[in-house]
Amino acid sequence: MVRVKKVIKVIWVAIKLDNFYHVEMDHVINPYTPGAGTPPLVLAGRDDILRSADTALKRVQTGRSGRSQMLLGLRGVGKTVLLNNIFNKAEDANYFTIKIEAPENGDFAQRCLPELKRILLRLSTQEKLRRQLDLAGAALRNFASIFKLSYEGFEFGATPHRGLAETGDFETDFSEMMRYVLTAAKAADRNIALFVDEVQYLKPEELAAITVTCHDAAQRSLPFLFFGAGLPQIAKLAGDAKSYAERLYEFPEVGSLSDLAADEALRGPAQREGVEFEDAAVNLILERSRNYPYFLQVWGDHVWKQAGQSPISVRDVRNAEGQLVTHLDENFFRVRFDRCKPVQQKYLRAMAELGPGPHATGEIASTLGCEPSQVSTTRAQLISLGMIWSQRHGETAFTVPLFDEFMKRQMPKLEKHVPRKRK
Ligand SMILES: Nc1ncnc2c1ncn2[C@@H]1O[C@H](COP(=O)(O)OP(=O)(O)OP(=O)(O)O)[C@@H](O)[C@H]1O
Ligand SMILES: [Mg+2]
Repeated sequence: MVRVKKVIKVIWVAIKLDNFYHVEMDHVINPYTPGAGTPPLVLAGRDDILRSADTALKRVQTGRSGRSQMLLGLRGVGKTVLLNNIFNKAEDANYFTIKIEAPENGDFAQRCLPELKRILLRLSTQEKLRRQLDLAGAALRNFASIFKLSYEGFEFGATPHRGLAETGDFETDFSEMMRYVLTAAKAADRNIALFVDEVQYLKPEELAAITVTCHDAAQRSLPFLFFGAGLPQIAKLAGDAKSYAERLYEFPEVGSLSDLAADEALRGPAQREGVEFEDAAVNLILERSRNYPYFLQVWGDHVWKQAGQSPISVRDVRNAEGQLVTHLDENFFRVRFDRCKPVQQKYLRAMAELGPGPHATGEIASTLGCEPSQVSTTRAQLISLGMIWSQRHGETAFTVPLFDEFMKRQMPKLEKHVPRKRK
């Protein structure tokens, strides 16, 4: 009997070992998630940010004031993933939620209106809210009319209430309209959370209007939270829009991951499928990806496809590298590069010459062989395109990690700036 048990144990260990070394690295079960806003299997290194969002949601839910948040970070660090995660928390906590991706040249308010109307409709079953809903409905209608937005009204607000949210000043009217909607929500014991991704594309008056709404809601104890995400320049944009923005919002920085979190982001998904990495392979990927979440996912995805079996080795990483660089160039970097005019591309190339950055704006101009004033328009255009940003006055940095290396591959030769002759 003892012998039989021993034999079974040996067979069991052999099967386990065989599994470990010969896990089928099927493409169907590839656990990596390179993409935009695609939730990773392991959301590594963001516990602090999620905890503080959770606290804000719970505070407002219990009638206390909560701080709105602006998630700041470069391209591909995981802002959208975090925003969506917080959005889900808000939904689970029975908040009314509004989610908007700020359009590059679009109209934020136009996108808000149907969402606000949807909230009022959901409240409309409560007879006791009739007066609040009437006022809120009228505010929506007036706001739409004064800013020439398309809006299909409904029973609430059908009778005109002159003077609500119709001064013609965008931030005053938007925040007033929000006040009426929030008052109706509060009367029904409900909270509202507004989520805006790509905040840098909001117009200054739109950002100001959101900030005034947060300020107003805090002062009147109305149940509102705002969660925004965007490129790092939004901290300054918010401050420019309203000087008190700094005290109103929390600005969690979403950056590259710590070594520990990057290790977890890389190994975690594979481990769930019974696949391991050699330590040296992990180290090499962390070095190449600089611990940026998107790059870690792309690396994971490529080495998974490359490796035939577990554990994934340094050789697998090296073998995957060529194809991976081509893939990133064609799918991630070039789409951004192609949106720029030749003169803007030259500016980016000069920045790349100086390394990853940030760089003194004057130094970039001298690399281009000109005065800063001759390329100031180009620089401003690149900022509004979201390609570069300025943390401090006189400094310029890429918003896309590792863009300097791509620029050198894409435009091997540095070209000087030749100002266009005035006609
Ligand atoms: N904490 C994380 N751990 C592991 N992977 C992550 C993490 N956060 C994001 N990712 C992965 O990184 C990629 C980019 O995420 P996301 O689209 O949220 O970035 P982003 O900051 O919104 O980028 P962009 O500025 O271009 O919109 C996705 O593939 C996602 O799965
Ligand atoms: Mg995003």
